[in-house]
Formats: sequence, C-alpha cells, structure tokens
Amino acid sequence: MSDAYLELVNSGITKTLATKLGLPRPAHLRRTDPSAVDTPLVPGRTLVIGEGPDTDAIARVLLGWDLDVHRNAPEGKVGAVVVVLTDLTSPEQASQRVRALGSVLRSLAPGGRVVTVSRAAGPEDEPAVAAVRHGVDGLLRSVAKELRAGATGNGVVLGETVSPDAPSAVGALRFLLSARSAFVDGQFVRVSTPDGAAPADWTRPLEGRVAVVTGAARGIGAEIARVLHRDGAQVLGVDVPAAGESLATVMNEVGGIALQLDITADDAAERIIERARARYGRIDVVVHNAGITRDKLLANMKPEQWDAVVAVNIEAQLRMNDVFLAADGLAPDGLRLVSLASTSGIAGNRGQTNYGFSKAAVIGMTRSLAGRVAGAGTANAVAPGFIETEMTARIPTLTRQVARRLNSLQQGGQPVDVAEAIAFLASPQAGGINGEVLRVCGQNMVGQ
Ligand code: NAI
Repeated sequence: MSDAYLELVNSGITKTLATKLGLPRPAHLRRTDPSAVDTPLVPGRTLVIGEGPDTDAIARVLLGWDLDVHRNAPEGKVGAVVVVLTDLTSPEQASQRVRALGSVLRSLAPGGRVVTVSRAAGPEDEPAVAAVRHGVDGLLRSVAKELRAGATGNGVVLGETVSPDAPSAVGALRFLLSARSAFVDGQFVRVSTPDGAAPADWTRPLEGRVAVVTGAARGIGAEIARVLHRDGAQVLGVDVPAAGESLATVMNEVGGIALQLDITADDAAERIIERARARYGRIDVVVHNAGITRDKLLANMKPEQWDAVVAVNIEAQLRMNDVFLAADGLAPDGLRLVSLASTSGIAGNRGQTNYGFSKAAVIGMTRSLAGRVAGAGTANAVAPGFIETEMTARIPTLTRQVARRLNSLQQGGQPVDVAEAIAFLASPQAGGINGEVLRVCGQNMVGQ
C-alpha cells in the first residue's frame, strides 16, 4: 500500500508548495532493503556524549563496528548521537549533556539517530537518582518529537546488573542506530539481565535457528518470514487452508516449509512441533502473528464477533505456548516467544473493544510468560501502530489519511518495520530483554 501524499510532498513543484504552505512533510525513511545486508549502520559520523567508564565502554563498542566515532561535536553532518546518562545521580547533572545534545541536533543527517543510554529507575533508588533516571523518559520522548527528516530518538534502559557493553545492551544500541528501527520512535528498549550473546555475524544473527511464524501467508507475517530468513533462520510458516496458495508462495521464496493449519485447532501446537521436529529437529523462535479484526461498536457487536477475535488473537496463543513450553528438548538454547500486540491494546480504539481486549491480553500474557521462561528463554511483544497492509487499506480514505499522520514520522509504517523489530527480539543479542512490549508506531500520539 503506497502513500501518495508522501510521494507528492517529496517531489517537484508539490514539494515546494507543501513547504510554502507549511503542510506536514513526511520523509522517506532510512530502511534496510530486506534482500540486502550491507546498508551502512549509521549515515555518517557518530557523536558520543558523556563521561566516565560507561561512555568509554560504549565508544569502544562503536569503534569495534568501524563507525566514525567522535567524543566532541565534529564539523558537518552527524549520522547518530549516543547520549550516555547512566552515571547521573541528580537532575542538575543532566544539564551539560542535554545542552551538548541540543547544540548538535541541527547537524543531524536525514534518517539520523539519537539514542540515550540510561539506567532504569526503581523503587529502591534515592529520590534524586530516581528523578534523573525517570527524567530521561520525558526528555527522550520530547526530543524525538522535535526531530525531522526521518530521524528518530530512542533509548536503551539498563537494569542495575547490566553493564553498557552487555550483549543485549549492545544489541539494542545497534538495532536502534540501524535502518532496522526505521519506524521505532520515542521508545525505550529495557535490558533487564546480562543474558544474551553477540552473534558471530551481525548480518545473520539467526543462523542455525528455526522459527515458526503464524499467519505467514501475507502482510506482516509474510514480511516476518522474509526478514527472519534474511537473518539466517529456517522458517516454518503457518496459515489457514484458505490462504494455502499464498503461504506456499511465501515459503518457496524463503526456502521454508508451509503448514496449512487453523491455529484455533486444539492440536495446533502439537502439529507444528511434529512438522518442525521431523524437518529441523527443533524450534527456537515462535512468532504469534496471526490475528483478525471484527470491528463493531460494542453496542452493536454480535457474540460471534467478540468470540472469533478472542479465539484467534489470544486463546490460541495461550494454548499453544503451554504445549511449546512443556515439550521436551524442543528449544535446546531456550525458546524465544514474540507476539503481536497493537497500539489499540494500549490506548484502545473506537469500534475495537474485542480487538483492544485481545491485544491488551497479549501484553498481560507476555509479562506473565517472561517470569516463566526467565533464564531459559524470553517472551516479548511488538505493538505496531498504523502499518500499511491490506487490513489498514480497508479503512475509509479520509480516516486513513488522518491516521497515517498522527505520529512523529507523519506516515504509516511498512510491514518490514514490524518484522525487523521481531527479528531483533528473536535474536541471540536480545537474550537480556524479557517481558517487554516494543512499539513500532513512529511515536504514535495515542498511548504512552
Ligand atoms: P493480515 O490480515 O494481512 O494477515 C493476517 C494473517 O493471519 C492472514 O494471512 C490470515 O489468513 C492469518 N490468520 C488469521 N486467522 C488465522 C488462524 N485462525 N490460523 C492461522 N492463520 C490465521 O493482517 P496484518 O495486517 O498482516 O497483521 C498481522 C498481525 O499484526 C495481526 O496480529 C494484527 O493484529 C497485528 N497488527 C497489525 C496492524 C496493522 O496496522 N496492520 C497494527 C497492529 C497490529
């Protein structure tokens, strides 16, 4: 689904006109081409703002990726700014680093990145420590709203026992700097434990892994299959028999196996395990992507419209996860569960009580599962905002145009943007991220 307005305001006379009239000018986002792996990590120089051992450790990591790292603002454009705030113990200490960030923002390249690295505020913290740590939340979200030209602002938040060069801290930093996080804006990735491992090859972190993707025949699910395959995974795609032909096409494209199956069937997980064991001997990643909508105002909603959405979007996942987690030797290196939530499950949406309930239920389930799998695997969710798919193409034109512009990047995301976030959470370098809900919404104005 293309966005004609975005094309218009970025070309020829209509670009000039839009600028003169002060109309929203969504930019072409810096994305990774799913078929290529050599997109530069950062579009230009990287400035690291901060002092002390944590800042030194982060600068060393960035140098290890061959980035052009500067500790003082360089002349000319800057591709990324990393602001290290982990050592701050009171709000007044933030001033100098924030001013250093402010002075370089005008030099941020199109598609540039601002990433803060800070510590999580906890109830045990002294009030001043908690204040500055939580202050980063409002700072970063506000900075993200001031950025233009497809640049984004996000943060990595470290748990008390996590060093800034722990695998998942590094993995999150790399994801947020890269083109893979194009539509992630104004968000924090929380790294709660030092678990995880840097991949041998950052371009193929899922090499040797087996991933199940439900609803893989089209839309976001098909793109998840493509991105996981690009990252090295073997893919088992699941979809309903009615979508069998498109599922076969996608699975042929990624060299995976297609399983025609309704996930609401009582034995759905057993059948998936049987196929995966027979072909690959294991399952490392399960992406619960299949989902449906049956929109109606609650006053007009028929019981079957409520029940169908709840059955597919949450009940099937609950049943399947119990079976996956009980299966002996299924995931020798720990199971990675990633579910599709939605911003409708965070902020609610008129006409979507059933969908909002089911997607908020996914968030509740994810947080509970995180405790259950801790130490052996992870459970996380991705909450997309407005994504250009067949589902959103059905929204009436005017409503669609408005919905697209209601985020800091002033456009809808692409299925690949959601897929990139899922591939990151499924990767070995995300082993310390557990029970999180990562929004891929361009900093949508709804919700947090
Ligand atoms: P879509 O409708 O294009 O694709 C969903 C796929 O799931 C289809 O191939 C469908 O056949 C399959 N499916 C449905 N019921 C199934 C069942 N019982 N068993 C097996 N497969 C089944 O949807 P889209 O847009 O790609 O969304 C994918 C996921 O992302 C869903 O969970 C959706 O709720 C979520 N999402 C989408 C957003 C968007 O803007 N498109 C926003 C937020 C969340």
